[in-house]
Amino acid sequence: MKKEFKSITEAGDLAGKRVLLRASLNVPIREGSVIDVFRVHKALKTIEYLRERGARTVIAAHLGRNPENTFRPLYEYLKKISVVDFVEDTVGEKARGAISKMQNGDVLLLENIRRNPGEINNDPLFSKSLAGLADIYVNDGFAASHRKHASIIGVPKFLPSYAGLLFEEEVLELSKAHSPTHPALFILGGAKFKTKEPLVIKFLDMYDHVFVGGALANDFYKAMGYNVGRSLVSDTPPSIEHLVSDERVMLPSDVTVLTLSGSRIVKKPNEVLDDEAINDCGPETLRNLEQLALDSKFILWNGPIGDYQRGFTENTEMLARTIAASGAYTIVGGGDTMALLSKLDLDETFSFSSTAGGAMLEYLLEGTLPGIEALKQNAQEPCVKV
Ligand code: 3PG
Repeated sequence: MKKEFKSITEAGDLAGKRVLLRASLNVPIREGSVIDVFRVHKALKTIEYLRERGARTVIAAHLGRNPENTFRPLYEYLKKISVVDFVEDTVGEKARGAISKMQNGDVLLLENIRRNPGEINNDPLFSKSLAGLADIYVNDGFAASHRKHASIIGVPKFLPSYAGLLFEEEVLELSKAHSPTHPALFILGGAKFKTKEPLVIKFLDMYDHVFVGGALANDFYKAMGYNVGRSLVSDTPPSIEHLVSDERVMLPSDVTVLTLSGSRIVKKPNEVLDDEAINDCGPETLRNLEQLALDSKFILWNGPIGDYQRGFTENTEMLARTIAASGAYTIVGGGDTMALLSKLDLDETFSFSSTAGGAMLEYLLEGTLPGIEALKQNAQEPCVKV
């Protein structure tokens, strides 16, 4: 793959340089504690790279959709595994004061940058304020790089810009999914079929097998005229008749339903009753899928195959173990998938585990992201100095 943006490894002497590092630290927090640290550990590589070279690293990142969300719990975790300071401010006096006191090798985490509405509105004034905090910009927030937000596409207009080590790795690894070694298997689970439908269409032509599982399969059963009972389906039924009749799409041949009384029953997808909900595939599907995985040379997986939030984790876990041990080149990603695999301690068992959810899907579909384009643009044209 031809790289058209600059890497942090090409930034020259970093000693004493103020680096605005856009990281991907959107982590789940419950009762004041970070409950999934997968992204945090992945972010450390670039943070430590910058520290070792004497940069003064200012981390900008977002946390969830509520602007009130605070990074304090993340800071409490981060300082146990690294040397990091935290300022409860984004671009104000407090933040600028803290940055002015930084020494070479220091790392400072800013408060949730979505506190400022200019972030999601991509307000040039906010981009300039962020850019004003540093000498160079590094985007290591691949997982947020599908967002046309100030810290992703705005700042590169005003600072020399580079990709971080994780960002580069994500691009390099996910681009491999566009030219897989055959036989290649694509497993797509989770929900929200509308956003994933174009991906199924695109990958049907590139992969030998496309397995559609999780709640996505329910939309297919519904389109096939099956009763899906209380199963989760898309709000607006997608028009997938053309896919339903495509023999290359594989659906679970048996399903596990949850009854109103709480029992789990395995049955055929066309046997679901009104008061039952499909929550997972069945053992026959798992066996076939595992065999397919063992026969594949390349496996791309996004989305759990069972409803893990309701405790249907065993099939996904068994599939994960089989995929990890298959000998194939394995790429896994998606917010829910990685949350589950990291809980099961399986997050590092694949050739590559992506930190991205929506950004992964968009990259797989489009082959680029707004954040990648912003870095490319910066590499071609000198930016305006703030
Ligand atoms: C992420 O951090 O996973 C993405 O940016 C998604 O978060 P968002 O949908 O709030 O942008």
